[in-house]
Amino acid sequence: AIQRTFSIIKPDATRRNLTGKINAKLEEAGLRIIAQKRIHLTQAQAGQFYAVHKERPFFGELVEFMASEPIVVQVLEGEDAIAKNREVMGATNPADAAEGTIRKEFALSIGENSIHGSDGPDTAATEIAFFFSGLELVG
Ligand code: CMP
Repeated sequence: AIQRTFSIIKPDATRRNLTGKINAKLEEAGLRIIAQKRIHLTQAQAGQFYAVHKERPFFGELVEFMASEPIVVQVLEGEDAIAKNREVMGATNPADAAEGTIRKEFALSIGENSIHGSDGPDTAATEIAFFFSGLELVG
């Protein structure tokens, strides 16, 4: 079925001017970018977005990193978009990511891993609504 998923191009990637290269990978995978904006989160906003991870040892580092520089938030649409996006992103740790994936090609470490993607339909809906209004989704 046609799905929507939420994606973030992270600070390590925007800093290295990789937005276009990452978008090309997403589009080549059959995903359509139906909403996109560049923003700079505060630490409070990053903490709210990643609240599910607040007990994890890396939470502080994650929040600081995500608020360190601009990010690009986007909504992707396509057939099985959630799984397709996770496939083209590759494993969380770039050391484990498959050849040809975004994280294999561009990520620096498990923390500075260039891209975030929703892990399921419920998270996708919540994450999209955190950043976008319905009017901004132009499918
Ligand atoms: P993401 O998909 O954005 O969701 C949570 C993020 O936490 C994850 O990608 C990683 O970038 C980050 N993360 C996971 N494990 C670690 C870790 N051990 N150290 C630092 N960051 C981590």
